[in-house]
Amino acid sequence: MSSRRDFMGMALGGFTALGGIGALYAMKRSWDPLPSVKAAGFTTVDLASAVENELVVEKWRGKPIFILKKPKDAESNDRDLIVEGERFHMSIGLCTHLGCIPAYKADDKKFFCACHGGEFDTSGINLPNLPPPSPLEIPPFKIDGTKLVLGEAGPEYKKMLDAGLTV
Ligand code: FES
Repeated sequence: MSSRRDFMGMALGGFTALGGIGALYAMKRSWDPLPSVKAAGFTTVDLASAVENELVVEKWRGKPIFILKKPKDAESNDRDLIVEGERFHMSIGLCTHLGCIPAYKADDKKFFCACHGGEFDTSGINLPNLPPPSPLEIPPFKIDGTKLVLGEAGPEYKKMLDAGLTV
């Protein structure tokens, strides 16, 4: 009888462990960033596996970088990055009011800054009558196929700079 109970206990323990591993695997998958390579001040991020309306936060020179594959129904903007025909928003993830890190609310399709209630749309534009004085800043970047190189000023970035769309 006791060996049967031992067996049942071990089987139950095994199922529990498997369930735990499965849950950990699922959590790790959702935490995994896009594939990226960091070298000498540049961070290269492959956007090929980006998921629509799911924010990815990279790190570049100690700053959080927001990368969002824009939802299909989001408005187009001159600040959009066009990668293989898909529209992306990319910016430094620091609120332009006092520097907090906003969160992306996928259901509302906007960035929300908990510090003083600032909000930004999917292009990183600050919504009116709220504390942030300006849009989220776009760092120097270059597009190379499906890859985004942070830290290198490519033609798309220079065009935005000339148009005053970032600083
Ligand atoms: S720091 Fe974001 S609203 Fe104040």
